[in-house]
Amino acid sequence: MSFSPTGPAPANLAIRAAQDDDVAAACALVRRSIAELCVADHHNQPAIVEGMLINKTPDNMKAWIATPGSFVLVAEVGAMTAGVGGLTGDGEISLLYVAPDFRFQGVSKALLAALEDKARSLGLPNCALVSTDTAQRFFTARGYAGYDAEEDDFGMDATSMTKAL
Ligand SMILES: CC(C)(COP(=O)(O)OP(=O)(O)OC[C@H]1O[C@@H](n2cnc3c(N)ncnc32)[C@H](O)[C@@H]1OP(=O)(O)O)[C@@H](O)C(=O)NCCC(=O)NCCS
Repeated sequence: MSFSPTGPAPANLAIRAAQDDDVAAACALVRRSIAELCVADHHNQPAIVEGMLINKTPDNMKAWIATPGSFVLVAEVGAMTAGVGGLTGDGEISLLYVAPDFRFQGVSKALLAALEDKARSLGLPNCALVSTDTAQRFFTARGYAGYDAEEDDFGMDATSMTKAL
């Protein structure tokens, strides 16, 4: 799958399906994105950081990539992995992470648009997600509306949001 974004994204941004040999880079990117960009969520409190990272392991990334009916996409700028996104078969945006070096360059917008296009192509009526506080403004601007935030088991606020496609 390839995707040509419009807007301010780097001209050489490309989105494709993740493969087995993306596991290490994708997992490292997601973990850095959480640790470095989601400070508004975890406030650098080790227990909350740990909770946010606990399932972001190479084994889980490999399993998510391999799950039939689910989709993991990587965004690349040249040879560099710039973002990772995921969609489950029932329309949940399960991953949306940008590498800190590529923040605010259109990577998440392009990934989310590609995931929503995929959901539409599957005939799904909605996409749903659980947003960090960090990304809530981003998702609101992309048409997602939220329910009340709930605190998860690790003390992080998480807001369920949906969008009609
Ligand atoms: C906020 C975040 C999701 C934006 O993604 P990005 O790839 O850096 O940014 P993009 O260039 O694709 O999107 C820019 C949009 O982000 C939003 N945005 C801009 N500044 C922002 C800020 N300080 N905080 C939050 N959102 C902001 C705006 O909607 C902007 O859209 P606009 O250019 O039309 O105004 C990303 O920077 C981030 O912090 N990710 C951390 C991981 C995370 O929380 N992922 C979600 C898991 S549910």
